[in-house]
Amino acid sequence: MNIAFIGGGNMAAALIAGLYGADNPPNRTRVSDPSPEARERLEAAYPVECFADAQAAVEGADVIVLATKPQVMPTVLEALAPLVERRQTVVSIAAGITIAAISRALGDDIPIVRTMPNTPALVGKGISGLYAGPACNDAHRKNAQRIMAAAGEVVWLDDEALMDVVTAVSGSGPAYYFLLTEALRDAGQAGGLPPATAAKLALHTARGAGEMAAQSELDVAELRRRVTSPGGTTQAALEALTEGGFNELVAKAVKAATERGRELSGEESGS
Ligand SMILES: NC(=O)c1ccc[n+]([C@@H]2O[C@H](COP(=O)([O-])OP(=O)(O)OC[C@H]3O[C@@H](n4cnc5c(N)ncnc54)[C@H](OP(=O)(O)O)[C@@H]3O)[C@@H](O)[C@H]2O)c1
Repeated sequence: MNIAFIGGGNMAAALIAGLYGADNPPNRTRVSDPSPEARERLEAAYPVECFADAQAAVEGADVIVLATKPQVMPTVLEALAPLVERRQTVVSIAAGITIAAISRALGDDIPIVRTMPNTPALVGKGISGLYAGPACNDAHRKNAQRIMAAAGEVVWLDDEALMDVVTAVSGSGPAYYFLLTEALRDAGQAGGLPPATAAKLALHTARGAGEMAAQSELDVAELRRRVTSPGGTTQAALEALTEGGFNELVAKAVKAATERGRELSGEESGS
């Protein structure tokens, strides 16, 4: 597979690292990025060729990954419009940019897969939501899946409007876990633990709980029940969280993020 990345920043580097760390690396990867530092960094770290503009990068590519910030996407799409061919799969990782917006610029017949990765992709532990536009067939979906699976897990959506919910759950989600870890650390410190000890306990509890839940075949609710002895310390803490409206608060946070995502992508506010 020949891949072109438009934008060679953090997320592109994470995907390239995953692709070249896997058993079946791409035949060829080209990157276009206006920043000489970004080009040098990528060429030093991976067997990729970098260019200042898009033309050389997309020539002969099977998949074109749009990996610039959403703000520069109109300029990127304008430059790509005369270059992209129907046989190429376009994979966008730009938050909030709809298939309709990309199709308007590139043409209705171009296969486009919209994806929403998250920051843990930078350590190969990401998860991405994927949605395939109407011009995509199975081969285009497979191409997109191969790229995004390089940085972690993938889930497919069959309704593009749900990409805003994916953004609210997993896109913004790492920040929620950071906040919880921060609060746990501060509470441990308030309870008398030395700051470094409180920080280490909170951090490794987050990592351990996440790993354990990801590896287990049990639902997280069951895992929670299994570590909650009746009348014990965990139950006392969970009751305080429930009484304080923890679940409702998380639901409210996800709803706020979903609505903000809809506003940013210029869609009408939904449910
Ligand atoms: N990072 C995340 O956790 C995350 C999560 C989900 C989705 N995303 C999406 O991933 C995309 C990339 O994010 P990132 O964190 O990798 O951003 P980034 O590190 O800023 O990378 C973007 C790169 O694109 C370059 N660029 C700017 N204009 C360009 C153009 N016309 N043609 C080609 N390259 C151009 C930038 O160069 P300059 O620096 O010189 O402008 C920069 O090197 C964004 O759309 C974001 O919404 C990121």
